[in-house]
Amino acid sequence: MDRLAIIGGRPLYGVIPISGAKNSALKLMAASLLTEETLTLENVPRLADVSMLLRLLNQHGVESTFEGSTLRLCAKDIASTEAPYDLVRKMRASFNVLGPLLAREGKAKVSLPGGCAIGARPVDLHLKALTAMGVKIDLDEGYVFAEAPDGLHGAEISFPFVSVGATEHAMLAAALANGETKISNAAQEPEIADLADCLNAMGAKVSGAGTQTISIEGVDKLGGVTYRVLPDRIETGAYAMAVGVTGGELTLAGADIDLLGAARAVLEEAGLTFTTDEKGVKVKKALDRCRSVDIVTHPYPGVATDLQALFMALMITADGVSHIKETIFENRFMHAPELSRMGAQISVDGQTATVRGVEKLKGAPVMATDLRASMSLVIAALGAEGQTMVNRVYHLDRGFERLEDKLAECGALIERISD
Ligand code: EPZ
Repeated sequence: MDRLAIIGGRPLYGVIPISGAKNSALKLMAASLLTEETLTLENVPRLADVSMLLRLLNQHGVESTFEGSTLRLCAKDIASTEAPYDLVRKMRASFNVLGPLLAREGKAKVSLPGGCAIGARPVDLHLKALTAMGVKIDLDEGYVFAEAPDGLHGAEISFPFVSVGATEHAMLAAALANGETKISNAAQEPEIADLADCLNAMGAKVSGAGTQTISIEGVDKLGGVTYRVLPDRIETGAYAMAVGVTGGELTLAGADIDLLGAARAVLEEAGLTFTTDEKGVKVKKALDRCRSVDIVTHPYPGVATDLQALFMALMITADGVSHIKETIFENRFMHAPELSRMGAQISVDGQTATVRGVEKLKGAPVMATDLRASMSLVIAALGAEGQTMVNRVYHLDRGFERLEDKLAECGALIERISD
């Protein structure tokens, strides 16, 4: 199992290219199942999650080529409507093949998903949306057996709370449904608008994406297009926070700081400055030591839950006390005990963590527990005295492209050790 050895205390200077957003690319890849023609996706990050979904799509009969960051997908013939446990259990986004398979073939058998262990993460809202569109669903032996013998029809779908995955799933299924679908209390994350833009380029009729109400007028057929995945806002936030910990100045090439929503103002309040030009975003630390700030995670445009662990890494050496409240997932503080091993002072009470800023952290062996938690350990290690060994790096490979190369090119002392 690979590990990362990091010696902290070096400021970061240089340019970090921001990759395409993992959480958008995965849903756009699922959209390839909706057309017989080729969907060409540009700016696709080379990540373990992308490879895993590609394997699943390939076994459904999707032909693919992946050159540089350009992924071509052609689902001319669907060879199988079954998504097996082995390919779905590791990654929740794979579950989103269910709707497109139903829209194309009228039936599917898809394993219940897995993913990062950050909470219960059921799929009831996904199934509720599909049922409203006329799908008959049975759950048996860990699989969803779904059938839409008369095809999918438009429906009024009102989610009781915001779900990114269920909103996207409903959009994917509704694109080829008969009639109009209206989604209320829809997620507004930038990845939702990205999916809508790609579907519309393919010939779909989606409006309102990025607001709480999305309308989709079903069409008979979708076609192939070339579409560029939007930049990864979580990767952008991660490297910005790394500068907050180490000092220095980074240009985040290709980044769009507005995609951070409310998190931008929080980072500015903590002491980071952002300037934007045609290349991307320049980030600098305006203070010697960052200021403590409180956050509460919320659906977009609120502070993203995916930034919470990274923000904690910034707060542990900030000046003052910070309260961090997690409202989206019930088990998303697994990084706290690992950060404490490095000298952080964190107490967790239910869904709130209280972080008392310390002057310095000391390197220690730590264990990555999930994707974003792992990145918080890397950020903390970049600012710590001495060496930190981050174990179980495979979590990071799921979501941060060329992590150690990008950081090393900007002056970090970071090395991957493969046993
Ligand atoms: C997406 O997960 C992201 N994953 C997550 O990023 C992200 O943390 C999350 O959205 C919230 O922004 C991908 O896009 C692949 P949700 P998703 O449905 O769609 C509950 C990362 O690190 N819920 O918005 O699974 C759920 O348990 C990952 O890149 C139900 O109860 O998130 C959670 O408490 C981690 N029933 C809340 O809703 C359902 O049917 C929000 O989850 C669906 C969700």
